Amino acid sequence: MTQDEKIAFEEQARILLNEIVTDALSRDSKVFILTDTNTQQWCYPVFAEKIDGLTAHMIPITIPSGEINKTLESVSYIWKQLTTHQAGRDAVLINLGGGMISDIGGFAASCFKRGIRTIHIPTSLLSMIDASIGGKTAIDFMWYKNLIGTFYPAESILIFPEFLNSLPLPQIRSGLGEIIKYSLISDPDLLTFLPPKQHIAAITTELLRACIHVKQQITLQDPKEKGLRKVLNFGHTAGHAIESYFLEEADVVTHGEAVAAGVLVALWLSVTVVGLSKEILKDYQDLYLQYFVPLEFTSKSIPDIVERMRHDKKNLGEETRFVLLRSPGQPVIDQTIDPTLIEQALHYYLSIKYRYHGDTKNQ
Ligand SMILES: NC(=O)c1ccc[n+]([C@@H]2O[C@H](COP(=O)([O-])OP(=O)(O)OC[C@H]3O[C@@H](n4cnc5c(N)ncnc54)[C@H](O)[C@@H]3O)[C@@H](O)[C@H]2O)c1
Repeated sequence: MTQDEKIAFEEQARILLNEIVTDALSRDSKVFILTDTNTQQWCYPVFAEKIDGLTAHMIPITIPSGEINKTLESVSYIWKQLTTHQAGRDAVLINLGGGMISDIGGFAASCFKRGIRTIHIPTSLLSMIDASIGGKTAIDFMWYKNLIGTFYPAESILIFPEFLNSLPLPQIRSGLGEIIKYSLISDPDLLTFLPPKQHIAAITTELLRACIHVKQQITLQDPKEKGLRKVLNFGHTAGHAIESYFLEEADVVTHGEAVAAGVLVALWLSVTVVGLSKEILKDYQDLYLQYFVPLEFTSKSIPDIVERMRHDKKNLGEETRFVLLRSPGQPVIDQTIDPTLIEQALHYYLSIKYRYHGDTKNQ
C-alpha cells in the first residue's frame, strides 16, 4: 500500500490550497475549517490572507485547545457540525492547528460517512515535522493517550513555516524533542540544524524539510506500523506514560518534552540491554539538559508510570515493549523489558533531575 499524502511548502502550498478550495466550492462541496481556540486566534487570520476572499464560503468549526480536549466529546461536536451543515462524502475538512487538531480532525474525517476529504495545515513545530505526516489519527480515551484511532492519511499537508512565529516557546521545545529523537534513530546529522539554545525559535526550513523527509521515508515503507515504522516510537513507551501521568495530574507537560524524557529512559535501557555505548547516553543527556528542564515527579510516582506503560498499544499481552538503540541510526524494535528494569531507568532519569537542581538528596 502506498500513501497519497502530498506535501507542499510555502508558495506551492498556497497555490495548492487555493486550487483545492476553489475546485471543491465550484462543485458545491462543503469546505470546513477546523481550529482550536488558540489557532483560531493566531493562525486563522494568517490562513485567511492566504486564501483571499474564499473564507466567506467556508464553515468554521472551533474546539477548545489542549490535549485534554482530544476526546470523544470534541469529535462528537465536530460530527454534529458536519451533520448540521449537511456535509456530504465530498466535503473537505481542513485541519488548521497542531498535532491535537490533525489527530482529532483526521479521526473525525476518517469516520464521518466512512471517510471525507481531509487536508492538514500544521501550525506547531511538532505537527509540521511529525504529527501531520503518515496518516495516524487518534483521540485519548479514559486518560489513555491515543487509545482510539485510525490510519487515514491526509490528502495534502501544507507547510507554512510562518505559523511558527506565534507558537509559544514551550511548544517549539516540544518539537525539538521529536527532532532529537529523529537524529538518534535515523540521521545524527540532523543535530547540525538544531537552533542555538539561546534562540530556539530560529527553526529553518532546511530543518523542517530534513525531518519531514525522515518521517515520510519511514511511513511510506510501513504505513500501518507492521515493523519499520515502530522505530518512530523510540522514546514513546516511557514518554506516553509520563505524558499521561502529568495529564491526569492536570500539570502541563508537552508531548515532545515527555518524549525527550522518554528518550533518556530508552537510552539508559539501551545501554543496559542492547549494549549502546555509555558515551552516547552521556552526550544525549548533555543535549537534553541544554534544551529541557527535567520533569518534576518523585520516586513515589514511578510504579504509577510503569503501570501506565503496560497499557501501551505497542505491547503484546502483559509485556511492556520498547524500541531501543544499538547505536545511533540503529534502532531495535519489540524489546520486552522487565518492569524492575524500567523502574531503574526511571530512577536514573530522576538522578539527572537532582543533579540538574544541584540536589544530592533523592526523594
Ligand atoms: N499522529 C501522529 O503521528 C502523531 C505524532 C506525534 C504527535 N501526535 C499528537 O500530536 C499532539 C501534540 O501536538 P502539538 O504539540 O502540536 O500539540 P497541540 O496541537 O495541542 O498544540 C500545542 C499548543 O499550541 C497551540 N498552537 C498550535 N499552533 C500554534 C501557533 N502557530 N500559534 C499559537 N499557538 C499555537 C495549540 O492551540 C496548543 O495550545 C498530541 O496529541 C500527540 O499525541 C500525533
